Amino acid sequence: MNTYKDLKKITTNTLIEMKEAGVKISMLTAYDYTFAMIVDGAGIDVILVGDSASNVMAGHISTLPITLDQMIYHAQSVVRATQRALVICDLPFGSYQGNSKNALESSIRIMKEAGAHAIKLEGGEEVVDSVKRILTAGIPVMGHLGLTPQSIFKFGTYNVRAKEEKEAEKLLQDAKLLEEAGCFSIVLEKIPAKLAEKVAKSLKIPVIGIGAGSGVDGQVLVLHDMLGMTQEFNPRFLRRYLTLKDDISQAVQNYIEDVKSKNFPNANEQY
Ligand code: KIV
Repeated sequence: MNTYKDLKKITTNTLIEMKEAGVKISMLTAYDYTFAMIVDGAGIDVILVGDSASNVMAGHISTLPITLDQMIYHAQSVVRATQRALVICDLPFGSYQGNSKNALESSIRIMKEAGAHAIKLEGGEEVVDSVKRILTAGIPVMGHLGLTPQSIFKFGTYNVRAKEEKEAEKLLQDAKLLEEAGCFSIVLEKIPAKLAEKVAKSLKIPVIGIGAGSGVDGQVLVLHDMLGMTQEFNPRFLRRYLTLKDDISQAVQNYIEDVKSKNFPNANEQY
């Protein structure tokens, strides 16, 4: 099967072709140059400069505090490191809600100052005007439905969304509206797998899941979670591929011991 591995550059059209060809899309977050270089070099299809940077990079308890300037800084570092992957940057909380002009201006800043290839925003019907207006400037837009962390204070919890029929129906309608408005893809976060599969089958554009089961067109995880750098966050959907927190901690302890015992530097490690 052609997995698009040899493709030099992934575009929004590539993702649509991948869906048509039944090739799953791989996506991870990254927020800095070094990690983005590793993730891109390993062959990831999409790098998301997620507003989860607010949690994993800045230590906030939600995604709400991160600013547009801070997102642009992260995206600039990621873009500098990336040769193949499509780089998508989140519009942070407060930079687009309820005002399509504001949404367009924020998106233009991300494209112009960071060199990202697309933006992502959260919400359904309520952001359709903003999606259309951003698209008038030729900026590709990814939607985000289900658990939308920027609305955490409305939801009150990080529990699975759209378990009830009414909310599930609304989510499907919102997904169709986002597709009609011109989104090139949608993220579905923490919703029942059956609903996510139904949405993916109803849309032509690729649907990327996080905690949304295997019936979607691709998967995304937060890099620091899947590498095991964060240990306190343990949702069922998270697969950890490393236990980096332990490994880094052990390396730091070894270094401290070597410094204290005068074992480092040795004769070969000095001038
Ligand atoms: O900010 C983020 O990391 C995200 C993913 C969870 C999809 O939006």
